[in-house]
Amino acid sequence: NGSGTLVVTATLPPRTQALIKSLESSTSGKFKLIQWRNEQRPTRNELLNLVQGASGVLCMLTDKIDGELIRAAGPQLKVVSTMSVGYDHINTKVLHENNILIGNTPGVLTNATSDIAALLLLGAARRAKEGVDAVENSKWGVWNPNWLLGVEFSGKTLGIVGLGGIGAATAARLIPFGFSKILYSGSRQHKEKEALLADIHRSVSNFNTSQGLSTDCFECKFVSTDLLIKESDVVILCCALNENTRMLINKSNINDFKQGGILINPARGPIVDPEALLHGLESNRLFAAGLDVTDPEPIKADDPLVSHPRCFIMPHLGSATVETREAMSDLALENLLAGVLGDKLTASV
Ligand code: DGY
Repeated sequence: NGSGTLVVTATLPPRTQALIKSLESSTSGKFKLIQWRNEQRPTRNELLNLVQGASGVLCMLTDKIDGELIRAAGPQLKVVSTMSVGYDHINTKVLHENNILIGNTPGVLTNATSDIAALLLLGAARRAKEGVDAVENSKWGVWNPNWLLGVEFSGKTLGIVGLGGIGAATAARLIPFGFSKILYSGSRQHKEKEALLADIHRSVSNFNTSQGLSTDCFECKFVSTDLLIKESDVVILCCALNENTRMLINKSNINDFKQGGILINPARGPIVDPEALLHGLESNRLFAAGLDVTDPEPIKADDPLVSHPRCFIMPHLGSATVETREAMSDLALENLLAGVLGDKLTASV
């Protein structure tokens, strides 16, 4: 009959929160809502207690969803809907074996996350962290032709690991900055995206020509990740975290980066071995890094990567815009309700 207890493990953005609060009354008691409303995330035990008796759970990417949790919920659990596109916190095998549907939020955060990837790259390449530090700590002296010189992208090669929605949107944003070659790796070739990216380059070239600026030819190629690392000036990780990508950037390939390369990670912390990254920066093999995610997360303030001047770190803000968080929570709620009502989820894993 579709009725049941809905457990939501966080306070949602205002519009979705208002909707969820009205659900109990607007559905004449069909649903009972239990929601975690504290600022602090629930501990593991608090989470296990919270989900008891749930038909559907709307969770966050910090909630580990595994066999223990679904046993704590009970056999009536029909759906777990995560307010994230990533689902590395969910044991998908165990949930599928128990016929529990899994919803996620792809697409709606593509723009916000690729904006952050572009921000990280510009911040890392143009030494924004050192610049802000200089302004804030009285280190800004007289204009100096050799001070805080960054690097540009004209004629350079951009490597995108994972040309999914976020990878392609990131490449699309960055072509106008001058990259003339894109290498991408992943599970398959995306011919249609290659053509669309070439179109963007063509329009940018037309604009540049009309302004008397120089242009380059353009190439977009599907390659192995090993080759991508060796031949790219900038490597951006846009892949999911799974057993194939955990520690993808590690001690044995950090020295394969181009001298003066830049590594950007807007995806998941554990895709990069932090010790290898630190070595890459300290040895100057890498010019800079930009991270929106770390391992562990949050990273400790005394971590050497935090104090490294050329490691520009943001606290997992990829999807953190008003518009995107509302869209994510709306979609997560839609998936939750569809799951408990026995309907097809709008977006499922
Ligand atoms: C996701 O949805 O997986 C993102 O990491 C959230 O910013």
